[in-house]
Amino acid sequence: MDPKETSRHSSVLIIGASRGLGLAIARQYAARGARVIATARGESAPALSALRHDHPDTVEIERVDVDDPAQIDALATRLGERTVDLLFVVAGVSLAPVDEAAADISTEDFVRTMTTNALGVMRTVERLADRVSPGGTIAVMSSGQGSVTNNTTGGFEVYRASKAALNQLMRSYAARRASEGRTLLLLAPGWIRTDMGGEGAGLEIDEAVPPLVDTVEAQRGTPGLRYLDRHGATVAW
Ligand SMILES: NC(=O)c1ccc[n+]([C@@H]2O[C@H](COP(=O)([O-])OP(=O)(O)OC[C@H]3O[C@@H](n4cnc5c(N)ncnc54)[C@H](OP(=O)(O)O)[C@@H]3O)[C@@H](O)[C@H]2O)c1
Repeated sequence: MDPKETSRHSSVLIIGASRGLGLAIARQYAARGARVIATARGESAPALSALRHDHPDTVEIERVDVDDPAQIDALATRLGERTVDLLFVVAGVSLAPVDEAAADISTEDFVRTMTTNALGVMRTVERLADRVSPGGTIAVMSSGQGSVTNNTTGGFEVYRASKAALNQLMRSYAARRASEGRTLLLLAPGWIRTDMGGEGAGLEIDEAVPPLVDTVEAQRGTPGLRYLDRHGATVAW
């Protein structure tokens, strides 16, 4: 194996890995030799089960729904004293069509988008941070659409707002925990063909995820919060 492709994070916990980008990230880390704990929220996650079958000694499957604080607590309890080098929270939803104005979304969908993409992610980060080794990395899947500066075209109004909220919440987290010395990352992976990204997306999962993981790997051991695209370039807040 190319040494570049051996994971610098030797153990990773990936939240939201049943399909899409989270699953592909779990596959990348398993292929790079890391110990992987990958979570799904349903009882059945066939693609993750197949990954575990291929890597029986290094891949574990856990369960958590980030909308449910009790499930996050239960996961933390099950992990016990175990630590990981990387916590990567990938879970997210996009519930409204591109052209739906924020004022037209149902209150239920607004609350669910904000709960999963911002509050649920931050609860997961807060509750599991102690399971990340000192000097380890906490990565969170944001989006280029979370950039306030770059929002000149509009669209996906509530989804954008949820990722901007996530970015702001991570800045507050980073300020409050600045002395801890962990690497904190908000990632903008690009527009990728997944269930969420849709058929019109410009990138295949296999094009986007390896460079994204390379970027997370390159950031290991560099404390502080950064908002980066998959190639490691800074995204304007
Ligand atoms: N695709 C893109 O173009 C793109 C671009 C920028 C950012 N992103 C972000 O990347 C992340 C993954 O997106 P994707 O394209 O892979 O989407 P996806 O194919 O729709 O997959 C979403 C994943 O999140 C999980 N999830 C959703 N709600 C959850 C919850 N409450 N608790 C735990 N897991 C939950 C899903 O689990 P279930 O299978 O149980 O539903 C699934 O594993 C999201 O945060 C998204 O906003 C995607």
